[in-house]
Amino acid sequence: MTLKTTDKWETIAKQQLSRNAFGYLSGGAGSEVSLKYNAEQFNRYRLIPRLLRDVSHVDTSVELLHSTIQAPILLAPIGFHTIVHECGERASASAANTLGLPFIQSTVASFSIEDISEVMTESDHYFQLYWPSDDDVAYSLVRRAEQAGVKGLVITVDTPVLGRREIDLSHDYFPMDEGAGMANFMTDPVFKEKYVTSEDNQATLKQKIQSILFNQTLTFEKVETLISQTSLPVIIKGILEPSDAKHCKDIGAAGVIVSNHGARQLDSAIEPLEVIEEIREKVGHDFPLLIDGGIRRGTDVIKAYMLGADSVLIGRPYIYGLTGGEVGVRDVLEQLIDDLTVNLKLLGAASWHELSPAQIRRL
Ligand code: FNR
Repeated sequence: MTLKTTDKWETIAKQQLSRNAFGYLSGGAGSEVSLKYNAEQFNRYRLIPRLLRDVSHVDTSVELLHSTIQAPILLAPIGFHTIVHECGERASASAANTLGLPFIQSTVASFSIEDISEVMTESDHYFQLYWPSDDDVAYSLVRRAEQAGVKGLVITVDTPVLGRREIDLSHDYFPMDEGAGMANFMTDPVFKEKYVTSEDNQATLKQKIQSILFNQTLTFEKVETLISQTSLPVIIKGILEPSDAKHCKDIGAAGVIVSNHGARQLDSAIEPLEVIEEIREKVGHDFPLLIDGGIRRGTDVIKAYMLGADSVLIGRPYIYGLTGGEVGVRDVLEQLIDDLTVNLKLLGAASWHELSPAQIRRL
């Protein structure tokens, strides 16, 4: 069940965007069984209110990596925002910045790390790394993120190859075809020196970026080395298995995002909510755990929190909102925060600490 605002922006996106762009945003991998169940996973749980408590002032804020964020909601890394709106990530980041929420910029953003760090003056800016198959380029991107003053790195590890998204395959479409998502490479000194020649055109550049974008040889050891060599906290995204999560903690990760990539990678990947409790048990209570996939309402955020997540990420709702530019993204985020606030009050909780584990039940 989706907030009416999200439905509204999804409808607008479907009407206004090209068939290719909307297919790219909305689609999932393979059978789309994970897409279906990501949307349904929250409905397996019901909430039990505790009443006669003072809820006149609700504090929705939480701490994440020593920052206060206004609600436990981050904007997930999504590539290629200019296929949705010409202002792209600048508009999405600006909406997050205004509302005190972190923005996670994708490697394949349509604006550079440095451009987005200029927008994120008040809220945390994270940089998501698809670790390229050329380590020199990977480390160059990391150094730029450090210099731009980002809050942390998010390394996405569920993408040794792109999942088989049949809708895009049937349209023969990848957003770089529109020139989107190349900014971080085209502004990178190491990429330019090693790969770019004066004969290149848009098509050859796109091919060169795509040829190194994903990395099938990435291991825990390589991530551990990076963690030891960067000043930034590193959060690992795409974990669904408890021992993997514990391994991330053991190599010094600052947190884990429990995610099936919005059902776009492994076909039939398990719903994140199904594994969050086991993962929480495995990593202990002091380790930052985030979750994403199918979060559409305030009560989804609450359920994820009650089952062990510290914060959530939202993807498609805000990217549909971006069809209306910054105003559209802000609309989506404001409605979600309002829904969250109202339902916390109705549960009898004036802050996150006042929720009790006894207030959630699986049917
Ligand atoms: C994504 N996601 C993603 N993840 C990532 O680490 N880097 C990326 O560049 C992208 N790009 C991307 C594009 C689009 C169009 C979508 C829908 C998703 C995955 C994203 O960060 C997140 O895990 C999911 O979107 C969460 O699921 P919901 O909220 O979309 O259901």
